[in-house]
Amino acid sequence: MKVKFIWQGQETEVEAEEGHTFLDIALIAKISPPYSCTEGHCGTCEAILDNGERVRTCQTLPRSDFHIIDYDKAQRN
Ligand code: FES
Repeated sequence: MKVKFIWQGQETEVEAEEGHTFLDIALIAKISPPYSCTEGHCGTCEAILDNGERVRTCQTLPRSDFHIIDYDKAQRN
């Protein structure tokens, strides 16, 4: 599956393995995403998913073959 991350004005598309959260995928790709607790409490890792849903990326797994995770949009709202 593929995930496109939007963070700090940059778009990065990566190939992801199943079973990893969006945060894990971003960290593996060295995107340096925002995060803190990694346990779903703080909200620092929030991003907007391609379907418009606001998600905590440390707790959310990809559900289809392609996703867009927009950190910039979450920071603006
Ligand atoms: S890093 Fe705290 S909620 Fe995800």
